[in-house]
Amino acid sequence: MKIQGKAYQTIWLKEDNPEIVQIIDQRALPHQFIIEDIHSCEQMGVAIKDMHLRGAPCIGAAAAYGMYLAALEAPENDFANYLQQKGDYLNQTRPTAVDLANTIRAISKKLVACKTKKEAIKICLTYAIEACVESVEHCRLIGVHGLEIIKKLYAAKPNEPVNILTHCNAGWMACVDYGTATSPIYAAHDAGIPVHVWVDETRPRNQGARITAFELLNHGVPHTVIPDNVGGHLMQHQQVDMVIVGSDRTTRTGDVANKIGTYLKALAAKDNKVPFYVALPHSSFDWSIRDGIKEIPIEKRGANEVSYIQGKAKDGSIQQVLLTPENSPALNYAFDVTPAHLVTGIITERGVCAANEAAILGLFPEYS
Ligand code: MRU
Repeated sequence: MKIQGKAYQTIWLKEDNPEIVQIIDQRALPHQFIIEDIHSCEQMGVAIKDMHLRGAPCIGAAAAYGMYLAALEAPENDFANYLQQKGDYLNQTRPTAVDLANTIRAISKKLVACKTKKEAIKICLTYAIEACVESVEHCRLIGVHGLEIIKKLYAAKPNEPVNILTHCNAGWMACVDYGTATSPIYAAHDAGIPVHVWVDETRPRNQGARITAFELLNHGVPHTVIPDNVGGHLMQHQQVDMVIVGSDRTTRTGDVANKIGTYLKALAAKDNKVPFYVALPHSSFDWSIRDGIKEIPIEKRGANEVSYIQGKAKDGSIQQVLLTPENSPALNYAFDVTPAHLVTGIITERGVCAANEAAILGLFPEYS
């Protein structure tokens, strides 16, 4: 997608030095646009954990490039052990987003028969490049399929904008490109369908207010940032035609882990008969589990993310200010689970299906 007319993806190899990976440092958005050079696997792990980049498919891509950097720095005579350790290190940086674990597992499998460090470098780099190309195509296809849903909603209220509520940032910054939840929105906007997006601010890290709003603004999509608590009220007053969110991990039965607060939106949507869609590529499914509430590990992050809030000061600098009383404890669960029965449909690269095992496996029979 474009930023001020220039096309970017979220992660790429540095043009004049392919041993360096470059990323957009999302912590500074929307006020500063910073590109960060990543030189080592260790540095990539910090970038994932401290959310220089974030969002499930983007974390998966970062893990693949992290393994490539690990292969470059591995000792010649012990590269296999080194890569295994680095895979374990990357794996524990963010526990909920399953794209990370899926990526490390897939690369480790490819490395099993690998005989030399040179070969390992090639395997990791090829995987990273191909996975990114595939991720972009899957997100584009999510847009193609999701567009059909938006078209139907528009047909039911022609000449009025379709109001879509989204939570967190499941946009192109959360992926390699296009986004998951935002891909159908961009597709509808580009097809001339008037859409308007309610952007949940998404406390505590404010990915909606900072990143989704930045993306939509750059693409010219009409939107309004709302405090997290507003969605239910808007739904009661027919101001929301559909909800689309992304997912960090979805079970084979259709339970969806996504940014904390997603569950509350799903409850409000159910109560108000607003369709609630989840957009995700197959890389964000966890095919090994059935019960999301019991089995999905929920990341707990530092209390400071709740106690402090970040913004641009009058002098232009980015500052963090204390929001709570100095000694009030704070709790920071990063994700929650929306049970399948609250999900109207799942939008994938292979089409749209109901949130149940039979329907999901109907689209992905190879995981039966
Ligand atoms: O903590 P984050 O910012 O990594 O959480 C991101 C989300 O919850 C997204 O909605 C999810 O990863 C879907 S990404 C397309």
